[in-house]
Amino acid sequence: MMKKRGKNVLRAVSFILALVMVISLADVGTAEAKTKAATKKNIVVLYFSGTGTTKATAKRIGKKTAGKVIEIKAKNPYTDADLDYGDENSRVVKEHESAASPAQSTVRPEIANLKAIKKAVKKADVVYIGYPIWLAYHNLIQCTQA
Ligand SMILES: Cc1cc2nc3c(=O)[nH]c(=O)nc-3n(C[C@H](O)[C@H](O)[C@H](O)COP(=O)(O)O)c2cc1C
Repeated sequence: MMKKRGKNVLRAVSFILALVMVISLADVGTAEAKTKAATKKNIVVLYFSGTGTTKATAKRIGKKTAGKVIEIKAKNPYTDADLDYGDENSRVVKEHESAASPAQSTVRPEIANLKAIKKAVKKADVVYIGYPIWLAYHNLIQCTQA
């Protein structure tokens, strides 16, 4: 009789201990989630893409970093003819040759969604910027400022 009672007490104590362990582990999980949420960075992935390559890469970075992916959209979108760097009269060649370097250029292709970009960048902790190489330099739209 006493033996049975002892066994029952032991079972009850084991059960309570297991319960305490489960609750403690759940607490640790909650604390970890809270810390993660508190340290979660606001990431923005900005990109300009003429033919889609940079776009695909930006999307992959956005997925990996859980960042917000935003396209830099030209107010006057680039057509295939605009991108023809073999034609000395094409838009890209004219933009490229407008100055010794894009920083000095007077050509500032306007950005259609500049307001939205500024808003997102202001709140961001980290900003990735992606763009294609055009005529051995980055394209001029990256130099456009407000
Ligand atoms: C106008 C123009 C100029 C380019 N100039 C260069 C260059 O100087 N050097 C280079 O390696 N690639 C050059 N490329 C190739 C692009 O950098 C490459 O195809 C890039 O992946 C395009 O990215 P996107 O699809 O996001 O526009 C040029 C492409 C274009 C359309």
